[in-house]
Amino acid sequence: MEILNIVGGYKLEGEVEVSGAKNAILPIMAATLLTRHPCYLEGVPDLIDVKVMGEVIKTLGAEVKKEGDSLYIDPSLAEEKEVQPELTRRLRASNLVMGPLLSRWHRFRVAYPGGCAIGARPLDLHLKGFAAMGATIRESQGFIEATAPRLHGADIHLDFPSVGATENLMMAAVLAEGVTVLRNVAREPEIVDLQNFLNKMGARIQGAGQDVIRIEGVSELRGARHRIIPDRIEAGTFLVAVAATRGKAFVKGAQPEHLAAVIAKLQEMGAYVGCKKDGIYLEVTNRLQAVDCKTLPYPGFPTDMQPQIMALMTTAQGTGIIIESIFENRFHHAAELKRMGADIKIEGRIAVVTGVPALSGAPVEARDLRGAAALVIAGLMAQGLTSVEGVQHLDRGYERLEEKLQSLGAKLWREGTE
Ligand code: EPZ
Repeated sequence: MEILNIVGGYKLEGEVEVSGAKNAILPIMAATLLTRHPCYLEGVPDLIDVKVMGEVIKTLGAEVKKEGDSLYIDPSLAEEKEVQPELTRRLRASNLVMGPLLSRWHRFRVAYPGGCAIGARPLDLHLKGFAAMGATIRESQGFIEATAPRLHGADIHLDFPSVGATENLMMAAVLAEGVTVLRNVAREPEIVDLQNFLNKMGARIQGAGQDVIRIEGVSELRGARHRIIPDRIEAGTFLVAVAATRGKAFVKGAQPEHLAAVIAKLQEMGAYVGCKKDGIYLEVTNRLQAVDCKTLPYPGFPTDMQPQIMALMTTAQGTGIIIESIFENRFHHAAELKRMGADIKIEGRIAVVTGVPALSGAPVEARDLRGAAALVIAGLMAQGLTSVEGVQHLDRGYERLEEKLQSLGAKLWREGTE
């Protein structure tokens, strides 16, 4: 287990550049399986999740090569194979190969990924959509199996705007017979990036980013070259970290329109935020004000920023209420923040955060990716030393986080433990 040690109290100042979006590259890597021709992706972050998704695609027979921030995938020799529990347990997003496998080979057998630290993470919306397009689904011995002669278009209304279900059904529909209409879909920027990549491959999709997506099936897709959009959650995490230390910094590459809800919340707390076309500037000089915050599907406040804003609110003036409406169990970081002196009361999906003058450094444990980010932010503003255990979670979703924070003036270092 690796530990990240942080000495708090240093203002973060300067400029930091965001990497490519984890939640855009993962579905796009899965989408390369829809063609027999090579694809070339740029702006690809160096993350554990990207490596594991690469392993998933390699086990299916495709060639995967990463050179710097470029990823070359040749799926010409790929074939339909079982996706083992070892892989689906390490990366839930491996379930994004279901749509491509069903599209290109008309079947899949994928180990059930199961829940994780933040929730049960069911796949019912994905499977209902596949069935509506003609697939026969069977769940047995911890595996999900699906077969379909050739998928046909359907008019599907999602019970919930699930990001993964939207992506899987887009990838199932691009080679289906006829037109598919997906309603009440997720509207995240990563969905738009997937649409743009698929259309470069010759797909006929329109509407991503709105609540109805229309896909006209085609007979085959070609390879494509694509640059991944910047990671809005990494950018938001840096904005919150700078605000937490009452610093000032420019987050280069962040797209303001992807972070409107987060920027509005930070401004409501009293931060100065300047939006430029090539990034976002943030400055905080005085103690921030507590605010209320409810996580919602995009363009609402993102659940992936909830732990980070909670950490920020622990030393704001007043009391704020945070409602986590997307995942049923995403408050693990609250208990750890309380070990550092935070005043947080949890009731189901509601957290009541009352600001204290300062946090005190302490040994804490991270249980998931964004919770780990929240604990790092708390450590940056706490008095004294904070040791974050479980820091390998960070490497799943943040590229060179320590290095980037050190370049802004943070005092932190990693130590391995046996
Ligand atoms: C994606 O997960 C992201 N992951 C998550 O980011 C993000 O938190 C989430 O979307 C919400 O924005 C990737 O893109 C790889 P959902 P996903 O399907 O697709 C329920 C991070 O930290 N649901 O939108 O799994 C589900 O239980 C990660 O980067 C069903 O009930 O999220 C949850 O409560 C964490 N049935 C809610 O919908 C289904 O079939 C949102 O899930 C599917 C989902």
